[in-house]
Amino acid sequence: MIGTRLITAAVLLCTTQVWAGGSGQANGGQANDDLRKAEAYHAARWDPIHFKPAIDKAKDEQCLACHQEILDRRVLPKTPAGVPAEETLAWYQTLTTYEGPQETFHRRHLVTSLAKQVMNLKCNTCHQGHDPREEASGSSATAQPDLTMRKVVDPQICLMCHGKFDAQVMGIPGDWYQSAKLFNNDCLTCHKTIRTNRHQVNFLKPEAIEQAGAENSDVCFGCHGGRAWFRVSYPYPRHPWPGSEGPVPDWAKDRPTESPARFRLDTGPEAQPAQKERQEKAS
Ligand code: HEC
Ligand code: HEC
Ligand code: HEC
Ligand code: HEC
Ligand code: HEC
Repeated sequence: MIGTRLITAAVLLCTTQVWAGGSGQANGGQANDDLRKAEAYHAARWDPIHFKPAIDKAKDEQCLACHQEILDRRVLPKTPAGVPAEETLAWYQTLTTYEGPQETFHRRHLVTSLAKQVMNLKCNTCHQGHDPREEASGSSATAQPDLTMRKVVDPQICLMCHGKFDAQVMGIPGDWYQSAKLFNNDCLTCHKTIRTNRHQVNFLKPEAIEQAGAENSDVCFGCHGGRAWFRVSYPYPRHPWPGSEGPVPDWAKDRPTESPARFRLDTGPEAQPAQKERQEKAS
């Protein structure tokens, strides 16, 4: 009896050693590698760059050092049901600005030709920190309330470029699809002189937008109703413009007159420190 117990203890000791990876045997080496990989994975997953304040200063190259796959990945050549991608067109792909074969979400916002021409989106324009553990936000007492779920960004950001065309505010009889003809299909019929102080934010290219929009109003419409994912419009800040000195219309009474601080050229992450100081003193 005592003999068997001793043997059991010895076997246990042996296996514990192998399990802890201390013995240098084949299995132990494997376990060690797995452990190291798991540690590296968790360290990367919890890398402070995913959270405030580090994420606000993160450069795209830093994120891409670990996440290059989001630009390399391509859409499936065929849907799971067997429909070839090149034979399908969604409604938003019929805008005249839509170019090339189908592309992934990230590529359409970062590297396709229209994206590069008129936008300057960065990872942290959209990604503002997420909860690595939570599939659903706020599901525990210790969850951080200001973090979004994994793979989710604040939809207000999307709404800025994918909201409904606000015909009511513009005093236009109906949606642009119906009324474009009345105005020669040209937004600049009015916007040469109305709300001309626009797009001065760090994720857009204002001069390129005006140039492209003057040639083809679908460029403008694309971000202001032509690719609408929402049934509401974005309440844009109403920047004063030369000629705007009249009474403020009722709908605009609660509107900000400047873009959110992190997007502004004088207060965003690219702002010169001296500029920032002046700004802080002034406010
Ligand atoms: C050191 C490597 C590393 C860096 C740098 C890094 N990440 Fe990550 N990130 C990870 C890992 C690992 C995960 C977990 C992936 C998983 O569980 O599939 C992750 C998860 C994410 C997720 C959640 C998606 C998911 O699948 O859970 C997002 C969004 C994300 N990262 C964005 C960013 C952004 C934006 C930056 C730059 C500000 C960044 N990451 C920088 C390694 C990194
Ligand atoms: C226009 C806003 C936007 C920009 C810009 C953006 N992302 Fe995302 N990202 C999203 C959204 C929305 C999702 C969720 C998409 C999904 O689940 O399919 C996402 C998902 C991810 C994921 C999860 C993995 C995946 O593919 O679903 C990673 C990692 C990630 N983004 C990294 C980045 C990095 C790195 C950059 C900069 C090079 C970047 N993102 C730029 C909005 C953006
Ligand atoms: C700064 C403006 C801007 C923001 C912010 C923005 N988008 Fe876009 N989005 C565009 C433009 C422009 C295109 C068309 C790009 C092209 O045709 O190459 C586009 C295209 C798309 C497409 C079509 C992709 C395809 O398969 O062709 C989807 C889906 C989309 N956006 C969803 C979103 C979501 C979700 C968000 C928020 C996370 C978002 N967008 C934020 C401007 C924006
Ligand atoms: C008939 C003249 C007219 C035409 C044509 C027109 N707009 Fe407007 N737009 C206006 C007026 C008026 C306002 C509100 C001005 C103010 O703030 O008092 C406005 C406001 C806007 C706003 C800001 C809305 C808000 O809620 O603050 C956007 C964005 C806009 N127009 C985009 C466009 C685009 C894109 C087109 C072409 C597809 C277009 N407009 C065509 C007259 C026009
Ligand atoms: C790539 C997307 C994109 C394109 C293209 C675009 N816009 Fe915009 N526009 C935006 C965004 C985002 C804002 C809000 C920016 C901010 O926060 O100040 C905006 C704001 C505006 C405003 C409100 C101005 C104010 O008071 O701040 C008007 C008017 C407007 N756009 C008209 C146009 C016209 C006209 C064109 C074509 C010449 C055009 N947009 C093309 C994305 C776009």
